[in-house]
Amino acid sequence: MKTILITSQKGGSGKTMLAAHLAVEAERTGDAPAWIIDADRQGTLTRWHERRKAETPQRGEVRLEKLMTALAALAGQGAAYCFIDTAPTISAQTAALIDLADLVVIPVRPSPSDL
Ligand SMILES: Nc1ncnc2c1ncn2[C@@H]1O[C@H](COP(=O)(O)OP(=O)(O)OP(=O)(O)O)[C@@H](O)[C@H]1O
Ligand SMILES: [Mg+2]
Repeated sequence: MKTILITSQKGGSGKTMLAAHLAVEAERTGDAPAWIIDADRQGTLTRWHERRKAETPQRGEVRLEKLMTALAALAGQGAAYCFIDTAPTISAQTAALIDLADLVVIPVRPSPSDL
């Protein structure tokens, strides 16, 4: 299983939107289930998932201290991808998440040019 972390200290940069869309597309085109985990206490990804009518991607409710164990369990039950959304902060928690990710995606929005 590949663990993909979407993170940036910049609020509103598109982390949650990307986590949701990447997970849906991975599930649609991949050969195995994709999961999402919401590691942001704002809970935006969780609210999106609660409103979503489709049953996939599935969402893991995980205490972050138990994340390694939870990821191993997901991999053991055949998950192909796990997308983790994060809070717009730099913290020890973010650093720990970066350490365990296979890929870190940092969304950046372009600023308007003043030229
Ligand atoms: N590529 C995009 N095009 C248009 N709208 C976008 C795009 N990416 C994000 N948005 C919109 O911008 C807003 C912020 O996006 P999002 O919630 O994903 O940011 P975030 O980085 O998760 O924010 P936060 O740091 O507060 O968690 C949302 O309303 C979202 O729909
Ligand atoms: Mg967000």
